[in-house]
Amino acid sequence: MDRMLSGGRPTGKLHLGHYMGAFKSLAELQQKYETFFIISDMHMLTTKCSKEHINSMYNNTINMVIDSIGMGVSPDDTTYYLQSQIPELSNIFGLIQNMTTVDRVAQTPSLLEMSKHAKQDEMTLGLLAYPVLEAADIFGMNAKYVPVGKDNIDHIKITQEIIKFINTEYGASFDIPDYITTKNNYVLGIDGSNKMSKSLDNCIYVRDSIDAIKEKVGKMQWAEPGSDKLNVVMHYLDIFGKPEDKTIVQRFNDGESQHSRTSRDLLTDRLIEIVEPMHSRMQPYLKDRTAVVDLLQAGTSKAREIVQKRQQALFSTMGMINLYKQK
Ligand code: TRP
Repeated sequence: MDRMLSGGRPTGKLHLGHYMGAFKSLAELQQKYETFFIISDMHMLTTKCSKEHINSMYNNTINMVIDSIGMGVSPDDTTYYLQSQIPELSNIFGLIQNMTTVDRVAQTPSLLEMSKHAKQDEMTLGLLAYPVLEAADIFGMNAKYVPVGKDNIDHIKITQEIIKFINTEYGASFDIPDYITTKNNYVLGIDGSNKMSKSLDNCIYVRDSIDAIKEKVGKMQWAEPGSDKLNVVMHYLDIFGKPEDKTIVQRFNDGESQHSRTSRDLLTDRLIEIVEPMHSRMQPYLKDRTAVVDLLQAGTSKAREIVQKRQQALFSTMGMINLYKQK
């Protein structure tokens, strides 16, 4: 089985935007590939480095694993591991940062976006190097495939360039990883005006209670066909509805008024059908958070063995000094 690496920064609870954007397809891909999931806490520091942020990191990490398991990324199929506990990744990063240029990484649109989002008026060196650290993750894991959203394709391209450089310059033949683009549905927040995002407080979280979901659906903006306002209920039904619900959306788009109450009830049912199985998968871990720590520890040990070998291979390929072998 080919190896695949996915990951995320432990910034908070996961929501249905994450589900449609990444985790739903990851839950399918994990059947096809040997799957690893990196909790990239070092990447989180590139925009969130305050004491307060770090204080919330542990809880966010545990919650992220639980939410991800809820969305179907099962610890039976996927190895979860924690980036900062694998120092060899930093060693790899230290070497490969010399194999790309400031100009090359500075062009990456995702960095500008993240810097803007984090309200950094000047970009930190860490954020500038974000794609290089990701390249270290991918090289370190010897991953063949990385599922990405559109805005992260550049990170993989930079990774490819670095590995090609290594192969040419040092006469090696490390595999070149590739990205997998997944069909991802862009989910608007319940406010209907922006992408679903924690910082905008417009999310339906994976761990929202049924009551919370009912309340949120109740608050979604309703608009008649042809109005310049968005009918948020229809936007959600289009994404989360069953095939047979799509005709309602179709009729609405064709100009036929729909009944607000009935449509909201239908959407609420559909969302409940989606989150209820998530809640039951999460249940054992919510009750026993040490089980999450255990699986992260085991996963990190397993991942570290792979990364250590890759790091050694890189050092010897490059011809770095090994004092203990050179006597
Ligand atoms: N950059 C990813 C994010 O948006 C997280 C990540 C870090 C990652 N290293 C990775 C994803 C390696 C895939 C492969 O949060």
